[in-house]
Amino acid sequence: MAILPIRIFPDPVLRSRAVDVQNINGELQQLIDDMAATMYHAPGLGLAANQVGDLRRVIVFDVAQREGSPDPQVILNPYLEAGEGEVIYREGCLSVPDCAEDVRRFGKVCVRGVDREGRPLCLEAEGLLAIVLQHEIDHLNGTLFIDHISRLKRGLYLRRLKKQGAAR
Ligand code: NI
Repeated sequence: MAILPIRIFPDPVLRSRAVDVQNINGELQQLIDDMAATMYHAPGLGLAANQVGDLRRVIVFDVAQREGSPDPQVILNPYLEAGEGEVIYREGCLSVPDCAEDVRRFGKVCVRGVDREGRPLCLEAEGLLAIVLQHEIDHLNGTLFIDHISRLKRGLYLRRLKKQGAAR
């Protein structure tokens, strides 16, 4: 398993729409394992393929993060079938460093997709898992959590980023 470099905003791959996985083969399994290793190494609760520069619809996540017995979850071609309720949570993202802001999302979701063997999968989630799933599926559509915050807050972040860039 390899730790892959994580793409950082404003890398255009983060703004690209990923496409459905067509072939479930050894190479894809390798990508999944590498993504899981990269997520734990970061560490993060979830990772979408865009974040490692791959435009296939793959997400990995683990909201339990049990030390010593990691249990990475994988969904290929995930999509939000339904959502209800509302939750506000302070989110961050491995691809958007030094930024954490409150984001409003569905409190409960139903996500469908397939597992790493290609079997159909349906996941009902609430709480942190529901948030992570929405965040990661957003990535596959080229959306970042900063798209869900106010223009003012986003503007402040972009200005801060520019300043840091200029200082380097
Ligand atoms: Ni993210």
